[in-house]
Amino acid sequence: MNAEWEDKLQEDFMQNKKWLPDLWLSAGGIVSSSSSPTWHLAISIGLSPVPLITMAASSTSELLLTDIATQDITCIPSNYIRPISDRPNLLDVEFSNAQIPLVDLQDLLGPDRSRVVEAIGLACQNGGFFQVKNHGIPEAMIDDVLRVSKEFFQLPVSERLKNYSDDPMKTTRLSTSFNVRTEKVRSWRDYLRLHCYPLEHFVHEWPSNPGTFRQIVSDYCKKVRDVALQILEAMSESLGLEQNYISKALGSHAQHMAINYYPPCPQPELTYGLPAHKDPNVITLLLQDDVPGLQVLKDANWVAVDSSRYNLVINVGDQIQALSNGKYKSVLHRAVVNDSSPRISIPTFYCPSPDAVIRPAESLVGEEHPPLYRSFTYAEYYDKFWSQGLNSASCLDVFRAR
Ligand code: OGA
Ligand code: NI
Repeated sequence: MNAEWEDKLQEDFMQNKKWLPDLWLSAGGIVSSSSSPTWHLAISIGLSPVPLITMAASSTSELLLTDIATQDITCIPSNYIRPISDRPNLLDVEFSNAQIPLVDLQDLLGPDRSRVVEAIGLACQNGGFFQVKNHGIPEAMIDDVLRVSKEFFQLPVSERLKNYSDDPMKTTRLSTSFNVRTEKVRSWRDYLRLHCYPLEHFVHEWPSNPGTFRQIVSDYCKKVRDVALQILEAMSESLGLEQNYISKALGSHAQHMAINYYPPCPQPELTYGLPAHKDPNVITLLLQDDVPGLQVLKDANWVAVDSSRYNLVINVGDQIQALSNGKYKSVLHRAVVNDSSPRISIPTFYCPSPDAVIRPAESLVGEEHPPLYRSFTYAEYYDKFWSQGLNSASCLDVFRAR
């Protein structure tokens, strides 16, 4: 081989490797390029370094991950592969659930209220995450919501696609990954997003199949809203504010929900269900089935959160960080996937209404605590969040006071 030809091969190889970062370790895998929806069968030939010859095997028009993941694949498509510097390092995760405090909400109603309020305050200040039990949502209702959600994702593709949209501003939509309009690498997730407060404004848009979906999910939305309001009262108190301070700061309130479906993934070490992010809303109340996947950043380590379907996992979102002038922290978290079981998680995102003006509470601002954020409307914040894409840089940084 002459030197020029060898250089050319080397160059081709590097170019291919840019698109197909791991492929030469898994020669013969089926991949698809992130720039085109066509599937390729990649075959590597020759001795190392090897050029890659790609040829079309079959094409896919699959919009949803569920319909890719159910084809018996052993390698993930290349547009799901994260760069080496941004992979989950699954062996480097702590499994100590003691890191995520468990709060008994029943005690909020009794003589121990001030102790529970304090525990919630400490959790919000330290790790930004806690779990709650005895929250008043019946176990049978939780089972029903998880069951009907699973049934939804098992519907024929034509039925699911009735709700498909990649427009983040739609109030009811089925989509995939995070935001396919802005992201370069996809995440291993499909999701149904529903606005759910006031219910009567939105419920008619929701899927009508399965036939019990609207009823079961509406009942759950009302119950989980009661829990959110209780927790917001406790948080207000724990900040030394009037019990209804946060509620009043949220305008006419809003509530969104996602039903996340993470199919089994043949190479969970190369991708995420959801990469590290902070939630843009006020608080998130997460219901999950019994399959683990949620991880929280604590003292620079990723900690796996136990998945117990009957406890809700609560976390502080960006709006509480702003309202509390940085005292309570919106913390990075992520979802990882596994190669054996599908996972369903159902976060409720409690939100301000779009017109609500969010600003640090006056009593938490002083000489020693200058305002960290300027005031903004939630509509402004929400737009920014969805246009930025999920990344570890907090969207709140854009709203810092100057
Ligand atoms: C989210 C989220 C975690 C999970 O949807 O914002 O963080 O475990 N989900 O699905
Ligand atoms: Ni989240």
